[in-house]
Amino acid sequence: MKLTTKFLGISLANPLVLASGILGTTGASLAAAVKAGAGAATSKSVWLRRHDGHSNPTVLNLGGGNLLNAVGLPHGGIEEARVEFENFRKLSSAPLFASIAASNFEEFGETAAAVAELKPDLMELNISCPNVESEFGRPFACSIRDTKKVVKIVKKKCGAIPLAVKLSPNVENIAEIARAAETAGADAITAVNTVGPGMVIDIETAEPILLNRVGGLSGPAIRPLAVRAVWEIFEAVKIPIIGTGGVANGRDAIEMMEAGASLVGIGSAAKDGLEIFGKIKKEIEKWCESRGIENISELTGKAHRS
Ligand code: SIN
Repeated sequence: MKLTTKFLGISLANPLVLASGILGTTGASLAAAVKAGAGAATSKSVWLRRHDGHSNPTVLNLGGGNLLNAVGLPHGGIEEARVEFENFRKLSSAPLFASIAASNFEEFGETAAAVAELKPDLMELNISCPNVESEFGRPFACSIRDTKKVVKIVKKKCGAIPLAVKLSPNVENIAEIARAAETAGADAITAVNTVGPGMVIDIETAEPILLNRVGGLSGPAIRPLAVRAVWEIFEAVKIPIIGTGGVANGRDAIEMMEAGASLVGIGSAAKDGLEIFGKIKKEIEKWCESRGIENISELTGKAHRS
């Protein structure tokens, strides 16, 4: 069966993508994900200038593959991205997706322009991180107006590079936000970022464990929310979707595609080892072959047709 796929004209060996946030800071870690079986790799969100993120503890393992993180989008700035993207290109010819972050509209435009010069295969606009609200206010992805405004600004700077907009599940109506992004010029939607923010308290000290107090929830616990979001977005827009949220095995990836995803992001499940990509790929292949499915793209949106 055929796992190769095309997404906005980009050829991928398979639909699995290393999601932004896990392992994507160095070219070597991005290339390692591809070597292990990912069809493309997404960088950690790139900032124009150095952004420090939060102090430890920033990640809590909740068990069952679930994480609560408040990493706070640390990044070394555009020069670091330039070096690491070059390193990636030396190691891999797979598609490189560049996630970008910024603190305000103007900076998003400047960052997009600078990152476009690095020629990633796709730009992913991270307007949905729930961990930087205390620094920058409510994420733009929580407002139709802000989403439209930032997408319009960034799209102008992307040139021929396709633009995916990463949405937040922490909204009343994610389909409306996706529609706003599409109207403003987005070429794809990535859904979803982490859920929350949530909090875990140490009952002995009676203090929140994360230094930031709150953080975004990821892992299998959020998968049904992500699947529902992808389902609703698929019904609402014509642009393709990168479905991300709690996918940990072949069955989960197939479910995400049937809900409407063309590509499937793997984040938290990669924290314990990149072998997960090869494992998921094999499970998808086996399942498809046993059901006579010849082309992986047949799965996209299947649940809407049944
Ligand atoms: C982080 O660095 O805080 C996680 C990335 C994200 O949630 O967008």
